[in-house]
Amino acid sequence: MFTLEAAVPADAETLAQIHADAFATERVTMLKSIDLSYVHYQEMLPPIKYWIENATLIKAVDSSTNTILGWACWRMSANASTNGSIPEPEAKDFPRTPLGIGKFTGAHMGYWQNTLVPTLLPSPHRILISITIDPRYQRSGVGGALLKWGLQDKLPVWVHASEIGYPFFQSHGFEVKASLTLELKDWAQNAPVPTGYSEWGTTTFRYMVHP
Ligand SMILES: CC(C)(COP(=O)(O)OP(=O)(O)OC[C@H]1O[C@@H](n2cnc3c(N)ncnc32)[C@H](O)[C@@H]1OP(=O)(O)O)[C@@H](O)C(=O)NCCC(=O)NCCS
Repeated sequence: MFTLEAAVPADAETLAQIHADAFATERVTMLKSIDLSYVHYQEMLPPIKYWIENATLIKAVDSSTNTILGWACWRMSANASTNGSIPEPEAKDFPRTPLGIGKFTGAHMGYWQNTLVPTLLPSPHRILISITIDPRYQRSGVGGALLKWGLQDKLPVWVHASEIGYPFFQSHGFEVKASLTLELKDWAQNAPVPTGYSEWGTTTFRYMVHP
């Protein structure tokens, strides 16, 4: 049993740790972490603190232990997208480094937000900024409950889905509107392939909509 509650500033460190744990084996995060200046927990802490104050960050809390099992962060369309289009970012304009991939995919997400959101979704709509469940509690309905919270008023929702999040969104009726596939070795600067993988491989980011 768990309850859904609004997160408070004192939760920020726990929420950042959950995010770091959930993405520890995600290949883009592993690639970025080749650069020792990239510490996923440290990268996530400032935005999470900001979202707690300025967006709607909902946590799932175990009713008997008070443990935070996972969280989702939402915002409404009015704050998220600016109208007008910007040119599509091209990989060639970014440094082919472990940190360059983050800069490129971040810029590309901004491009999608600016060009696709105004044409695909009526306002108001919801943006799912992040949904992250502690790996110890995944596949037990927590993510589904947090997602349902944001779908309850039947507004359309969009999300920028990573490779590991895609199956979850697909199983909940999200549709792919655009995608970006990257060859990870192009950004890895010959760093060894992570343990458990035979190659860096590709990853696909999908821009998905729940109608
Ligand atoms: C994706 C994530 C949020 C799903 O949360 P969850 O609590 O594990 O999901 P649920 O238990 O509510 O799953 C509900 C249904 O979604 C689908 N689903 C969830 N994760 C899935 C996966 N990895 N592969 C395929 N289907 C999946 C299944 O249909 C599942 O039902 P089932 O367990 O009865 O088969 C969670 O696994 C997570 O935090 N992953 C790492 C971070 C991430 O990818 N976040 C999304 C960023 S874009």
